Order: sequence, then structure tokens, then C-alpha cells
Amino acid sequence: MSSLQGKSALITGAGSGIGLATAKTLASRGARIMVSDLREDAARAGAEEIKEAGGEADFVICDIGDEAQIEQAVAATVARFGRLDILHNNAALLSPDVLAADVDVLTIPVEVWDQVMNVSLRGTMLGCKYGVKAMLETGGGAIVNTSSMYGMSAFNRMPAYGVSKAAINMLTQHVATAYGRKNIRCNAVAPALIKTAASEAFIPKPLTELHDDAAALPFSGTAQDMANVVAFLASDESRYITGEVLRVDGGTTSHLATYADARRFFGD
Ligand SMILES: NC(=O)c1ccc[n+]([C@@H]2O[C@H](COP(=O)([O-])OP(=O)(O)OC[C@H]3O[C@@H](n4cnc5c(N)ncnc54)[C@H](O)[C@@H]3O)[C@@H](O)[C@H]2O)c1
Repeated sequence: MSSLQGKSALITGAGSGIGLATAKTLASRGARIMVSDLREDAARAGAEEIKEAGGEADFVICDIGDEAQIEQAVAATVARFGRLDILHNNAALLSPDVLAADVDVLTIPVEVWDQVMNVSLRGTMLGCKYGVKAMLETGGGAIVNTSSMYGMSAFNRMPAYGVSKAAINMLTQHVATAYGRKNIRCNAVAPALIKTAASEAFIPKPLTELHDDAAALPFSGTAQDMANVVAFLASDESRYITGEVLRVDGGTTSHLATYADARRFFGD
């Protein structure tokens, strides 16, 4: 496990789930963390939790749907810790109302499509914009974007969410390509179903069971599983990895569609 001693990290959507687990994990490896979230109480609580565990942290309110707030979150991180070494663009628009309207191209209201693109995709791009700017000042850094299995393989629901994540994958490759020679790496993690506030609120239990059935591994992934991989991608241990979209999905997207039924056919 590599040290992140003294590194300065900003994580969006860090008040809960994957972002919070990542914030705590990076802190436990010595990084100084700016916990950012749309919800002030959640961001403050995340920073408090890290400090109580002996880590260094502060918090900032940041709605990734608002360019000025993203610029401000990066500036606050640099002001507090002197530099930005690690940026985890993790937040996405996950409101149950929006996800419920993101059904198919026949019915999705264009406003919902635009909202998903304007928050999840545009917000991640703007995170890269201001993150790269800050990293150029200090000779480099590591960016990790949160994608999704829905950005890797098509699903029969959530077209806006899936397309926004697929676009984030290309954004990741673009940033890696454009700024690699400036020592800025950019990678993404693509989780399968991870038990968090967002997934518990929106994904019905039978669908969760179907997802679990489709995984190659016999257990569900956790926010900590995601955090461990983000920590690796943020550290020098992964210094020769850039432009990669790493599926952290228990093998959910690695096989033929017949896999789960074939398991039963062969009696495995
Ligand atoms: N949980 C899963 O199964 C799963 C699977 C694939 C991808 N993801 C992705 O993981 C990321 C984190 O999701 P999670 O499951 O940990 O959710 P979560 O609900 O546990 O946490 C998301 C956090 O983001 C914050 N947030 C919401 N909108 C925001 C905005 N506009 N600006 C800033 N913060 C905002 C929320 O307040 C919350 O604290 C998302 O990008 C999501 O798409 C999750």
C-alpha cells in the first residue's frame, strides 16, 4: 500500500458513499483532504470524521452543476493545502426524480437529458478544467473520474446516465492524452452496483439481485472496494497508468450476456 503522505486531494460528492470512503482512505494514507459536496452538512461531517480519526481535512460546498463553485472548490483546496495533487471527480446527478425520468429515448424529457449532461458530464469536465489548471502550477497530479458499468455496456434503461458516463470515459482519455506530457495522469473507475445511499434509494431489491447474479465474483462490491482502487490510481504506484477506464465491477461487464443462465445450465 503506497503512501500519499502530504498530498493534497479534492473529492467531489464526498459527503456519502464512494466519495466519502475515498476521502477517508486517502486520508488514512496521509493525504490532506478537501471534502466537497452539494450538501454542506454532509461535507462538514465527512471532514470531521477524518479529523477525529487523526487525519487532516477541511470541507467546501460544491455543486458540480455550477462552474463557479467548482472553480472555488479547487481554489479553496490550493488556498488551504498549498497545491492540488489529487482530484477525484466523483459526484454525479443522482436525484431519484431524475433517474426515474431517465427511462428511454422515447419518453425522457429533454430537460432531464440536459440536466444529466449539464451536471454529471459538464461538471466532470469542469473539474478537469480547474484541476488541470491547478496541477500545471505545481508540476503535475492525478485525476480519477467516477464512471459506471452503464458507461461500459448498454442497459435498457437510463440512457442519459449511461451516455454521460461513456462520455466521461472519453473525457478521461482526452485529458490523459492532452496533459500527460505535463505529468498529469487521468484515469476513471467504472463501478458495478455498490451499496450506497444513491443505489439503495433508487435500485429495487430484485434488480440488485439480478445485478449480483450477473457478476463473476460471488459477493457484492463495496464503497471501500472503490476507494482502494481510487487510492491506487491516485498514488505513484500507478504512475505508468493513464487514460485507463478501470472496471471495478466484480466481472459484471467482462462476459457474454448468457453467462448467468449458462452458470445454471452447467450447474455451477
Ligand atoms: N453506487 C453505485 O452502485 C454506483 C455505480 C456506478 C457508478 N456510481 C457513481 O459513483 C458516484 C458516487 O455515487 P454513490 O453511489 O457514492 O452515491 P451517494 O449518494 O452515496 O453519494 C453521492 C454524493 O454526491 C453528492 N452530490 C449529488 N449531486 C451533487 C452535485 N451536483 N454536486 C456535488 N455533489 C453532489 C450527494 O450529496 C452525495 O453526498 C457517482 O458518480 C455515481 O454515478 C455509483
